[in-house]
Amino acid sequence: MKVEGSRVWVVGASSGIGAAVASELVRRGARVAVTARREESLREVAGDAMVVVPADVTDVDSISVGWTSVQDSLGGVDCVVYAAGYWKRADGSRWDAAEFERHVQVNLLGLSNVLELVTPELVAAGSGSIAVVASVAGYRGLPGAEYYGATKAAQLNLTEALRASLRGKGVEVVTVSPGFVRTEMTQGNDFPMPWMVEPDAAAEAICDGIESGAAEVVFPWQMTAAMKAARLVPQALWPRLTGRG
Ligand SMILES: NC(=O)c1ccc[n+]([C@@H]2O[C@H](COP(=O)([O-])OP(=O)(O)OC[C@H]3O[C@@H](n4cnc5c(N)ncnc54)[C@H](OP(=O)(O)O)[C@@H]3O)[C@@H](O)[C@H]2O)c1
Repeated sequence: MKVEGSRVWVVGASSGIGAAVASELVRRGARVAVTARREESLREVAGDAMVVVPADVTDVDSISVGWTSVQDSLGGVDCVVYAAGYWKRADGSRWDAAEFERHVQVNLLGLSNVLELVTPELVAAGSGSIAVVASVAGYRGLPGAEYYGATKAAQLNLTEALRASLRGKGVEVVTVSPGFVRTEMTQGNDFPMPWMVEPDAAAEAICDGIESGAAEVVFPWQMTAAMKAARLVPQALWPRLTGRG
């Protein structure tokens, strides 16, 4: 999809990857609307270069009103980037159903709410792009990522299926799977985060993927190699490599 001159809705853009993607899209000549819950942070990201549309993806009424506002402001959209996300470390021996539900609400049901609003317009136009920021954490079950990883694996599956469904309808689906990126989400982590990249580098890779219509954008290359190789490790061996004890 040609980014220059396009209209893009970036959801989850008040910080981190979404904020960096929104800025990079503007730099490349797109008209951009940014959404998240924190209005002040959105305004800081937007300056006078983007349309600010505060909304909560988990609240159907809120995100629907936001969508109407985006349509009114931009006259429709050519691309949506879903970068809203939630992560909290799990303790597998003390399952927390409320925490699991929170991950599902933001990472999956929020995405579902946005897809329901945007997909018909893109399909009707016969063009456009849907980019979803998933994670390499969805590639394998990682201890401590029981809640998060399950939703990220679902995003990988969902976007893979949607890409096939929309093939021939002119709408591209880009699955984005970052390794570690220095954002609010990772700043509290107390475990090693190898090959950490900056949000600006992540944004460049994501925008390149949208421009080229890539099926998947995975970065950095070291994490790509490690996690793609990890997919080949047999189930019986995996807990011995990744688990405690
Ligand atoms: N950082 C990493 O290492 C990494 C690696 C792989 C994948 N990812 C994925 O990248 C995406 C972006 O994460 P990030 O690292 O940039 O973290 P971040 O800085 O914490 O950004 C998360 C964004 O999601 C928004 N959000 C959360 N709940 C929301 C809700 N209910 N409604 C609307 N917006 C909501 C937040 O805004 P408000 O709080 O203002 O609502 C914020 O803009 C996530 O999907 C994450 O899983 C991150």
